[in-house]
Amino acid sequence: MKRIFSGIQPTGEIHLGNYVGAIRNWVTLTDEYDCVFCVVDYHAITVEYEISEFRKRAIETALILLACGLSPEKCKIFVQSHVPEHTELAWIFNCVTPIGELERMTQFKDKSKQHRANINMGLMDYPVLQAADILIYKAGFVPVGEDQVQHIELSREVARKFNARFGNVFPEPQALLSMAPKILGVDGEAKMSKTLNNYIGLLEDEEVMWEKLRTAVTDVNRVRRSDPGNPEICNIYTIHRAFSDNRILLDVDKGCRTAGIGCIDCKKMLFKNMIAELGPIREKALSLMKDTDYVIDVIRAGAKKCSAIAKATMAETRSALGILA
Ligand code: TYM
Repeated sequence: MKRIFSGIQPTGEIHLGNYVGAIRNWVTLTDEYDCVFCVVDYHAITVEYEISEFRKRAIETALILLACGLSPEKCKIFVQSHVPEHTELAWIFNCVTPIGELERMTQFKDKSKQHRANINMGLMDYPVLQAADILIYKAGFVPVGEDQVQHIELSREVARKFNARFGNVFPEPQALLSMAPKILGVDGEAKMSKTLNNYIGLLEDEEVMWEKLRTAVTDVNRVRRSDPGNPEICNIYTIHRAFSDNRILLDVDKGCRTAGIGCIDCKKMLFKNMIAELGPIREKALSLMKDTDYVIDVIRAGAKKCSAIAKATMAETRSALGILA
């Protein structure tokens, strides 16, 4: 069975973009692949974070993955720092990765702008640790949103460079995009993200969710209710595609283009479908919050299984490098 690896940072609330861009796809993939999903806490320390909240955040992130439908019987879920071989392999990969490649990474450039006071080595080295995450499990596929594709391409290059110099140890992984690989924020401009505060949180109260959706930017050219709109350039329609069936999508498309429906009508239909899917996830998350010991058991068991794989890959890697055993 081909292996899949993907990761998510424990930085604050998980949002709609994470869910439809990645997590929902992960759940489906567990039927067909040997899946490994990781809460990447070492990636998250490349920017400022709340130390006193950090443990809780790691547990909460794993908890949300479970609430979204990932089952420990069908995949491995763990926390990155619990398998320290990831960082060990990252060091080795550092020695085959050209600095120039890291400097041109879009995320590095964006984050350097956002965190001018703390442009640290970890921020630049971030994609190398990501390559180690994937390659330590020799994963063939990496289900991610569009923003991570450049990093997956770098992972391929790291594997190529390593193999060319030390022999064929690592496969070249491929990105797998979901049907909604890029969800914009409620501003309708930038990618939905935790840092930009333009997100709809997966576990937010229904009233808060509706308020954010109600005021979210749609097709900017549709100023008045009587103006026809264009669903193709409307972020709300993109989100509709992730939650609504074809019949509703056709109705919305037609209604929008002919000004038969207004943006609020469209949002109401979307909200109904969103809540139908997210309501049960929220309920499951709330019940898991009362049993975090279970969540901790799941991530400990996941780390144990992942450690065995990671240790084997490290032994092979050290041997390829000529390191004294
Ligand atoms: P992170 O934590 O930013 O996001 C987790 C996943 O959610 C996707 N995503 C989105 N998809 C569509 N629209 C959006 N607005 C949106 N925002 C986020 C991301 O593409 C991602 O798939 N670097 C990674 C974590 C990571 C990783 C890995 C991923 C570390 N090691 C190895 C894959 C493989 C990140 O920051 O994801």
